Amino acid sequence: MAFTFFMRDLPVIEHAVNHTVQFSSGRMRTKVWDAGSALGQETYTVAIAFAEKMGRFALNNLRIDATDYDEANKFGDKVKNGVYHYDELKRMPEEFFKKYIEPTDIPGCYRVIDKLRNLVSFQYHDLRSFKPIGNDYSLILCKNVLLHFSQDERVKVIKMFHEALAPGGYFVTEHTQKLPAELDRLFEQVVPDAQLFRKL
Ligand SMILES: C[S@@+](CC[C@H](N)C(=O)[O-])C[C@H]1O[C@@H](n2cnc3c(N)ncnc32)[C@H](O)[C@@H]1O
Repeated sequence: MAFTFFMRDLPVIEHAVNHTVQFSSGRMRTKVWDAGSALGQETYTVAIAFAEKMGRFALNNLRIDATDYDEANKFGDKVKNGVYHYDELKRMPEEFFKKYIEPTDIPGCYRVIDKLRNLVSFQYHDLRSFKPIGNDYSLILCKNVLLHFSQDERVKVIKMFHEALAPGGYFVTEHTQKLPAELDRLFEQVVPDAQLFRKL
């Protein structure tokens, strides 16, 4: 089972969202791809960060595509339903919990509110296909996934992300993941203290 949790790397996600909102102003829509989303904990963290930045009622032009290759564990159903046990949600700041999480009939379980779930669409996708799920993305997140890939695979996956991004769009990965040197001319690092890159 994938190791992940709500609010993981929130400051980096907020940073990426701030840049993306600025980049997307004036665009018809903002497309986000959360690649290797696991059970949606990261995806809904991203959705919350956008809602906080843009306001819940300005989210109409936002679409978040979550992908993972784990069909055996029915990740798609879990992400779509957005139901999680309290143990998974308890590290969420109380103000976010109050605004974005609601009770369910299932003992100990809560659901992400419709407003956020409606932004998210999940599909099964294997990053090793090296084929993007779409194009014109303003932001692609791929965190804590590529560490298990070979260097050659990593280069191919990040080139695929480059292809899928709109010009000037953003790519974010985890702190310990450095951009392979051969991709230097495809991206510029936005800030020295986060692995947030802008497509050149
Ligand atoms: C450690 S979790 C990271 C989840 C989340 N991105 C985070 O940072 O918390 C890694 C996820 O990558 C997914 N993954 C691994 N290889 C993949 C591949 N080839 N294609 C798509 N997803 C993959 C796993 O199924 C798992 O859900």
